[in-house]
Amino acid sequence: MTSISPVNANALFAAQERIQQDLKLALDAFSLAEPLKSAVYHAVMLGGKRVRPALCYAAASLSEHSNFAAARRAAVAVEFIHCYSLVHDDLPCMDNDLLRRGQPTCHVAFGEDTALLAGDILQSMAFEVLTSRLFDQQASVDSTVVLKQVQILATASSKMVSGQVMDLQAEGKAIDQDQLETIHRNKTGALIQAAIMMGAVTAFSGTDQAIPQLRQFGQNIGLAFQVHDDVLDIISTTETLGKTAGKDEQVEKSTYPALMGLEQAQQYAQSLQQQALAALDYFGESAKDLLEIAQFVLSRKN
Ligand code: IPE
Ligand code: IPE
Ligand code: MG
Ligand code: MG
Ligand code: MG
Repeated sequence: MTSISPVNANALFAAQERIQQDLKLALDAFSLAEPLKSAVYHAVMLGGKRVRPALCYAAASLSEHSNFAAARRAAVAVEFIHCYSLVHDDLPCMDNDLLRRGQPTCHVAFGEDTALLAGDILQSMAFEVLTSRLFDQQASVDSTVVLKQVQILATASSKMVSGQVMDLQAEGKAIDQDQLETIHRNKTGALIQAAIMMGAVTAFSGTDQAIPQLRQFGQNIGLAFQVHDDVLDIISTTETLGKTAGKDEQVEKSTYPALMGLEQAQQYAQSLQQQALAALDYFGESAKDLLEIAQFVLSRKN
């Protein structure tokens, strides 16, 4: 079994630089009216760990024959969807948060109307980027790969919204572990898995054994990510998180620590991480980047 070494998230740091540049390039290609433009740049460019783009690159990098331009577009697209989900998640009608990535939330900075529309447009922009020729100097685009990526991202985006509805409905209610797992897999796990699979389809054909292995990896690391987010809400501070700590308890969110206790939730996240890492054994040394990022998911402080 793949072992967990001390945290070394080089793959993530390298990806952060690349994605920051690519996000800027992608945003600059749109002509947006003010104040929408400023709200969109605020939502996308200011902070963020960029875990989903990093996972997308790392999955694509498993094969030296991958179509890396398609992976770069997918990395931008998944981060756009993620940023839209955060803008809407923070709205007064949803989690009603004032702080995000250490900045005033989008609606605090630009008003609810503009923030709502910034989220909306980021969703369409994600698919415009995914189906564009951005980063691609080649004469022909591999439309089979692009179609798969569109399907993966659209499905995960729908799941994210379904998960968000279930999350809001579950506030103040006692739900069981199966129901909580469904919420977390939908609202967060699906998009993380999609980031991996959109990278994977640039590198492997649909019949390659790598695909189910990566799906398995994505399912487990996606759920672990949200369990740890629930844990951080309790054990971390507002300053470190860049978002308001202790918020889940305050509004009686259904979370893993609330359901099973803090320690059990931490152990559960670790067991999910172990299962994720076990799925990487198939790739041996070549999965080093995915391994590093998977380790970061539970060692992160924000
Ligand atoms: C926060 O996601 C929202 C969840 C889905 C848990 P991240 O922790 O990836 O947020 P950023 O992008 O780094 O701000
Ligand atoms: C966020 O879950 C899930 C999505 C944004 C889709 P949370 O509501 O727990 O995320 P944070 O804690 O506000 O980042
Ligand atoms: Mg929420
Ligand atoms: Mg929230
Ligand atoms: Mg949270």
